[in-house]
Parts: sequence; structure tokens; C-alpha cells
Amino acid sequence: MNEKARIIELRDLLNRYNYEYYVLNDSSISDAAFDQLMQELIFLEAKHPDLDDPLSPSKRVGGEVATEFKKITHERMMLSLANAFNDDDLRQFDRRVKQLTGETEMSYAVELKIDGLALSIKYENGELKYAATRGDGEVGEDVTNNLITIRSVPLKVAEKRDFEVRGEVFMPKESWLKLNEARELSGEQLFANPRNAAAGSMRQLDSKVAVSRKLEAFWYYVPNATELNIMNHFASLAFLKEQGFLVNDKTKVFDHIEDVITYISELSENRYDLPYEIDGIVVKVNDFALYDELGYTAKTPRWAIAFKFPPDEVETRLEDIFFTVGRTGKITPNAQLEQVFIAGSKVQRATLHNESFIKERDLKIGDYVFLRKAGDIIPEVIKPNVLKRTGEEKAFVMIDECPKCGTPLTYKEPLHFCLNESCPARNIEKLIHFASKGAMDIEGLGERVVEILFEHDLIKDISDLYDLHTKRDELLTIEGFGERSVSKLLEAIETSKNNSVERLLFGFGIKEIGEKTSKIIASSFSDLDSIKTKNAEDFMKLRDIGPIASAALVEFFSSERTEILLSALSEAQVNFKYLGKFIDVNSYFHNKTIVLTGTLYELNRRDATKLLEERGAKVTGSVSKNTDLLIAGADAGSKFKRATELNVKIINEQEFLELLTKEQSEDEK
Ligand code: IVH
Repeated sequence: MNEKARIIELRDLLNRYNYEYYVLNDSSISDAAFDQLMQELIFLEAKHPDLDDPLSPSKRVGGEVATEFKKITHERMMLSLANAFNDDDLRQFDRRVKQLTGETEMSYAVELKIDGLALSIKYENGELKYAATRGDGEVGEDVTNNLITIRSVPLKVAEKRDFEVRGEVFMPKESWLKLNEARELSGEQLFANPRNAAAGSMRQLDSKVAVSRKLEAFWYYVPNATELNIMNHFASLAFLKEQGFLVNDKTKVFDHIEDVITYISELSENRYDLPYEIDGIVVKVNDFALYDELGYTAKTPRWAIAFKFPPDEVETRLEDIFFTVGRTGKITPNAQLEQVFIAGSKVQRATLHNESFIKERDLKIGDYVFLRKAGDIIPEVIKPNVLKRTGEEKAFVMIDECPKCGTPLTYKEPLHFCLNESCPARNIEKLIHFASKGAMDIEGLGERVVEILFEHDLIKDISDLYDLHTKRDELLTIEGFGERSVSKLLEAIETSKNNSVERLLFGFGIKEIGEKTSKIIASSFSDLDSIKTKNAEDFMKLRDIGPIASAALVEFFSSERTEILLSALSEAQVNFKYLGKFIDVNSYFHNKTIVLTGTLYELNRRDATKLLEERGAKVTGSVSKNTDLLIAGADAGSKFKRATELNVKIINEQEFLELLTKEQSEDEK
């Protein structure tokens, strides 16, 4: 056989083995044999670049690095679903469906609502054309390179007519836990839930990341199914299975809403046993012939509804109350709980916010308490179970000294603060913030590492960080700190010196000064030496900066501690300059609140927003009396109407572009 024919044969073989392994869960060859075939294919493809095929199974190993995601306009809007919260909402849905269609009997498909990231794939002539995220429902992002790394997704299908398939990419719970363990060790931010992890992985420009992330996908909807002569939802799932897609096997069809309700309660009860997270159950009218009659509201189809789970409640023992000290010195009482499982995750701690939260609920140490958690929302202690009191419970007493440094606490209703600027607990929190992603982004300097450095007295505050390289030998004596990790850490600290100054400013953790505000300040005053000389009035002139933030800035820069910190940083040659784009204060758009609506032809929404923000405008989503300008593209609807009613100035895309080009040419003069 010649090499070209072998390439084609290998591609077919590998596609089939992938399908057997990832969809059928039943492989007919060993992993080693599979790898060998893949190596052979990669070798032969490298020899015959003319036979390149973007849909070759060899492309599943990733490697495409994009600079940005292409925009894809969905052929049909990607809608969301209306919600039902209880059985009566479901019965109401059933009545409405029957009323609108005039039918007395109705079949419903009941399926899991997978908690992941919705995607749409287009197949043309039996080949995967592109995969797009939902975006705003109209325009999504092209994530084809990442999607094809999911081995169960067919690259080629037998059906030659064009079709679109929608489904959910998700990360199994187990993979999410493992990923977070690894991220915790390396000091990277954790993913709050599997959904965020899946979405974060799909939205990476480097497809190698997706490969490493163990993603999976279920497919549940073919929007143009009737064009393929498929008559109902259940049949569309059978079609997808035939074409090689992974379809969730819990879907069932019922002829009565009461049976639907029974099945939903069965699925709800067992939901934590599933290896992936679901955030509800979807009920869909089975018969496609009724979809047109039922129609759509603005955002949701009337032929389906999502049943959402009520928040979970469990009872457990409040073993103790302990206190933590935040970056600003805020003292938080926390519940130490007897470990319980709630909403699928282990819970041992919960914040009790402040003294009054505990007093209002009359919580005592040793109480049995009710705990609630909805989805990925943090667990909340609701109230004690007073019926279970034995008299042995201990009353809660608020502390009056900082648990870490012993400084007497200051009370500012309803919170207690440790105002000692040198408090080690506060400095640890400050450093964690300083090193975090949005701030100086120092890889490897996560929570645990910061704590270890403090425990070993290697740092006391931010300024010691840039001296750490002189303590290399001491670092190496710490357990778990090898040559490689120490070098990497010191390098990351060194690199952070080159950051644009807004990161440093945000890293200081000044009250009310978030990432966005830091950027506004930095780009307005260009460097730290100038920022530190400004007064409250100067700050107040800037967009989005009010009296509290201005006062906090002035207070921060006038303190002696800050002066010492800044001179240490300057000595260490940490960059104090703004390196980003400057906001054009002379622009017509500067300081205006602007709304975009309708279809723009020359620019997409994102670029238009960016251009406006670079000129100091605030771009918002809805028209109100505070709106200064509406930029209306084609087919503008309700926002246009509202702007006219409120006498808001309106310009069209052409006028917008003209203003932009005029400003640009003036700049160049
Ligand atoms: S049907 C026109 N079925 O839930 C509606 N959606 O709130 C098409 N989802 O955007 C969606 N599992 O991301 C449908 N079995 C399922 C689903 C499901 C998860 C997600 C999907 C959708 C959102 C709607």
C-alpha cells in the first residue's frame, strides 16, 4: 500500500477507535496499539504536507495557538430556557402547552440539564465545519480547535445533509477536583465549580490546554432536525447516536405530566451520584410538529422548560467558631462544622460574617444548625435546631483582640477590625492579593506558599518580596522547595517588576480601588510618582472614582508606611510607569455614558466597546436618563425607542465611524 492510501486508512481506523473508546466505552485495541497507529499517522502526515486535513484525528492532540477567537454569527439564535421551581410550575407549563396547541394529550422528553458550556457545531457535507460558543445568543466565538480535542466528538459523520448540533461541554466532577488540587499546589486560582473549569478551558487560545483538561460533551439538540425528516426530540437523539455523538442515556419520554414529575423527583434525588454536575432537568415537548405553534418568547422557546433544584438543606453540628483576619483587618467569625455533604460537595467551614449575624440567629457553640447551599453558592448557616439543645451549648462571645497580633479591635458597625498595619495575618492576606492574577500575577506565589514564607520569617510584608532572591539558600531548606521550584518562584517575582503600574496599584489593595479603577488612575496620571502627589479633587475628576475611593487613595499615599514601601520597591527597580494605552481625554466620547444597539456592520460590539473605553467612555447595556449617547446600528428596537423618549442623543454607525476617524486624523496632526 502506498503512503497516501495508508494515511487515509489510518485516519479512518483512528476515528473508529476513538468512537469505540470514548462513545461506546468499549475499545477493540490496546492503548499502546492506538498510540502506535497515531505516531505512524503523524509521521506520514509530516512527510506529505499536501495531504493535510484539518479534520485528521492527529489534530486532536492540540497545538494550534490562536491570537484571538473568530466571531461566528449563529444561523439560528441560541436561546435559553424558562424556569420551573416546583411541581405546580410544571403543571402550569403542561396546561399552557395544551392550550396553545389545542391538544389534550402531550408527550414530553425529560432530560438532564448538564451544567457546562453550551456549544453549537455545524456539519456540512459530513464534515465538522466549526464549533461556536453561545456568546450573547446571536454571536459566539469559534472554538473549533479546542472542541476537536474532545475525543468523543465526531470529526466526520455519515449524514451528508447539513445540520447543526447543540450540546454541553462539561468537566466531570473527578477531573475538576484533580485539576483544582494541582492548581492549589502551584498557587493558581481555583475553579469555583466544574462549569467554570469547562468554560475556562474552552476559552483558551492554546488548544494544548484543552487537551490537558479532560473535557467531555453531551449533545441534545438538532435545531434543523425537521429538514432531515426527524419528527420528534427522541428521534433526534437517536439520530445523533447513529451519527456517533455522545448522548446522555437518562432521557425518557412520558405521556403525562404527573409521570414527568415522578421521574424528575427520581432524577433529583440521585443527582449527586452522577459523575458530572447538573443544574436542573429539562422538559421538552417531544413532537416537533407543535414547535411552530408554540413559538418563542424574546429569549426562550415555549416548547421547553427547565426545572431548577431548590437549594439543599442539611443539619450538622457547629463545633466551634474561629476568627480570621482579612487584608483590611476585618475580623470574620467562621463556623467550624462537623463535615457534611451538601449540594455534592464536602463542607466543614462556613462564614458567619460578623457578630450580629451570630447574635441574630442566636447560634451557640455545640448547636445543631441548618445549612443551606444552592448550586455553587457558598454554604450558609441558617439557624440552630433549638429542639436539639441539651444545655451543654456554649454562648458565643465576640473577641476584643486580634487573634493573630493581640491588638485591641476597633468596631465600625457591624464589623470589627484589627487596625495594626504590621499585623502578620493582614500582611499575609495583603501579599496573597498582591501576587494574585489581576494584580502582580506572580506564578507560584499562592496562598499556601505565602503562608510558608511567613512561617519561616522570610517575609514580613510586600517590600521583602523583592529581597527574597538574597535568601535563596534559606528557601532551599524548606521542605518541598526544590531547586526548580525556588528558581521558578524567584524568576516570577523578578518578572513581575516589569508589570505596567496599574497592576502594582491594584496590588496595594487600597480600599475601593479595583482592577478597573487602577487602570483608569494609571492611564490618567501615567506613573506612580505623579499619582502619589495628587489630591482628592484630582482623583474625583476621573470617571468612576467617588469621594470614598479618592480619600482612600490620599490616605494611602500620605502614610509613612507607604513611603517606606515605595522607596523599597523603587530601589528594587519595580516599574512605576503605565505601559498600556492612554485614555484620550480630549475625545468627544470621554466621560460619556454610551449604549450600543442594533447591528453594526463595520465594527463588532466588542471592538466598538473597546474603542469607546479607550476614549474614556462608559459603555452600558440599557438606556436611562443617565445615558449621554446611543449608537444605533441597523434594526435598532426598544432601546432606540426609549432613547427617543428620553431625548438622548442618537447617532448611527456611519456617524460614529466618522467621529472616530476625525479624532484619529486630528491626533496624527
Ligand atoms: S435545550 C432552545 N437541553 O441550558 C433551548 N439545554 O437554559 C435549547 N442545557 O443554553 C437548549 N442541558 O446550555 C437543553 N438537555 C439540555 C440541556 C440544556 C443543559 C443548557 C444549555 C442552554 C441552557 C438553557
